[in-house]
Amino acid sequence: MYNDLIQKAKTVLDTNFQPGGFTIPSKGLYPFQWKWDAGFIAIGFAHYDVVKAKKEIETLLNAQWKNGFIPHIVFHTESDTYFPGPDFHQSHLSKESNPDYPSTGMVQPPVLGFVLEHMLNVVEDKKAMLQFISTQIDKVFWNHEYFYKERDVTNEGLVYIYHNWESGTDNSPIWDDIWATMNPPQYTFKRKDTSHVDASQRPSNREYDHYLYLIDIAKKYNYKDAKIAEHSPFLVLDPLFNAMLIKSNESLINLYKKLGGHADKIKQLETWQKQSVASFNSKLFNEELGAFVHYDLKADQQIPFVCSSSFAALYAPIVDADRAEILVNTLQHKFGDESLYLCASFDPSSERYDPKRYWRGPVWINMNWILYLGLKRAGKTALAARIKADTLTLLERYGFYEYFDARKKVPDDAFGGYGGDNFSWSAALFLDFVNEK
Ligand code: DGY
Repeated sequence: MYNDLIQKAKTVLDTNFQPGGFTIPSKGLYPFQWKWDAGFIAIGFAHYDVVKAKKEIETLLNAQWKNGFIPHIVFHTESDTYFPGPDFHQSHLSKESNPDYPSTGMVQPPVLGFVLEHMLNVVEDKKAMLQFISTQIDKVFWNHEYFYKERDVTNEGLVYIYHNWESGTDNSPIWDDIWATMNPPQYTFKRKDTSHVDASQRPSNREYDHYLYLIDIAKKYNYKDAKIAEHSPFLVLDPLFNAMLIKSNESLINLYKKLGGHADKIKQLETWQKQSVASFNSKLFNEELGAFVHYDLKADQQIPFVCSSSFAALYAPIVDADRAEILVNTLQHKFGDESLYLCASFDPSSERYDPKRYWRGPVWINMNWILYLGLKRAGKTALAARIKADTLTLLERYGFYEYFDARKKVPDDAFGGYGGDNFSWSAALFLDFVNEK
């Protein structure tokens, strides 16, 4: 079963792998190395080409900054197919930046801890993989230390993001109310993404003005975290981002225990973990919605919308059985209509939902993978099986697109597979789904 598709998935990954030792997410649209993409891509390679899997991680971690920060994009090569590139981001403004690797000055969800553990679980030669992990794991630990030192302004174990691109869920409707508090200048720039992908599937020009303005504020303060926290109008505690951090803390603890020694680091991780889990539950849970939500630190209030990020906590050691039950009910009730594939990225009953546009509604394979493992962790095998079946159906029906229409019956003028084609993490996580033992 799936033999043809498995072959195609490998071809996508092998074609997107670059001589510089990293994999582009999609030709033209995303021509560099993206942080959370690199993590999911390494999991795919771990199933059939361990050398490339390790290289992906190593190349990304080589670009780490002096303060432990790992950038969201590393511009290993030049390309004129993407905006905003290195000339706009100007990472060299930060004295912490890595002079050998031009990059952005923002981060992306901290997936690397659990990626390393997942790679170890899928490879045959555990000894060799553990040996590799022993050469990289301290860099990931150091990255977590960066987050807790520099991004936890309220000292409660939750880390903020200062830009929507840091969330990974780039143009989610979650940010709309923050955009309404800002009035950025109208930038003159040439969009490149809309020459690769239909504009109706991408953010609007006005949204891009906000994105660029936030970067300009960070640049004005030379990417100093404390200054950004003070001056950025966008300062958010994101339930996906923090769930990934907590999941990765757990994986780092497991891996350090396997490696032996490292008692101080394990103790530190356990201390962070305790506070993070408690604050996640108390600050990010919305009783009325029955889900975790984002928290706007500038407005000092929750952002009361449910999206696929609301359930990422199921994948981490965050919830007890009662709360898991509430989350699963909300997921089923809001997103589980039989006319839809699981799982739309935004509440399909909301007027902000848009089934075609980037993170405003479509299904994403990486989110389905996180939710699938989360549902399994919570013992919800039937719903987990449905999300896996839906994922495989979407990939079979449309191919390795970047995101997908959640509607099983798409209107005649829509195709259903959207964004970049031959998209690396869709191929990589497909391999993980079908090779599951
Ligand atoms: C983009 O250009 O849309 C990227 O996803 C930013 O990370």
